[in-house]
Amino acid sequence: MPFSAEELGEVLGDIRGKIALAFSYQAEDMAVLDLLAGLGLRGLEVFTLDTGKSFPETESYHEEVERFFHIAIERYRPDSGALEVLEEKLGEWGIRESLENRRFCCRVRKVEPLGRALAGKSAWITGLRAAQSVTRTGIGVREYDDDHEMIKINPLFDWSDEDLADYIRGRGLPLHPLYEQGFRSIGCAPCTRAVRPGEDIRAGRWWWENPDHKECGLHSRPKAQGPVPGRE
Ligand code: ADX
Ligand code: SF4
Repeated sequence: MPFSAEELGEVLGDIRGKIALAFSYQAEDMAVLDLLAGLGLRGLEVFTLDTGKSFPETESYHEEVERFFHIAIERYRPDSGALEVLEEKLGEWGIRESLENRRFCCRVRKVEPLGRALAGKSAWITGLRAAQSVTRTGIGVREYDDDHEMIKINPLFDWSDEDLADYIRGRGLPLHPLYEQGFRSIGCAPCTRAVRPGEDIRAGRWWWENPDHKECGLHSRPKAQGPVPGRE
């Protein structure tokens, strides 16, 4: 049985202070938001890192999600000075030229804004799943995030692709329109493409890079913290 809403309620019950959900318009994030809605969304901040490089379809989906859950999704944007330097140094396609360049872009557009989004919070929640990639095997439901010095909760850590698809279907949750066009993971437009049948679900992210490098810096290697309630 994959990790459930009841178990998530127990994990969150231990946390004092503000909690935020990092929402990136993916099926995973919809499932997590729905689990949290079932537990009551009071006091939870739902935020997105608006990189300025999202697909045009993302904007209408943003509004659809807000209407569906009756929430407002906070947007955190890159610092304008850092963005100017980035654009001057890399131009439109410099991100494809080296791993260093690509990580520089992710740092300015995602990692630094994440720091601002998490300021003043005690914990953050993500849609990470261990089954997503080689960089995520071994993640747990509750970890200590050294970079941000707070607890990080991954409610879908042990969900398979099928668990996720079944949940989305069973709950009738609306998905980002690009899933209809063969996308299996949603990120920035220059760094995300549809995948072919049989390809890995993250094959369409930074497809020109080695799979071991496919992280943008939001998620460092985890340190599991404490047992999963009811699963000791
Ligand atoms: S990434 O590191 O490769 O970009 P991925 O797209 O798989 O990460 O998303 C994993 C989780 O990180 C999402 O479920 C979400 O919680 C968080 N996340 C990723 N990108 C964003 C974003 N732009 N805004 C908010 N949260 C994000
Ligand atoms: Fe830049 Fe691509 Fe990273 Fe988005 S995913 S921040 S466009 S390098």
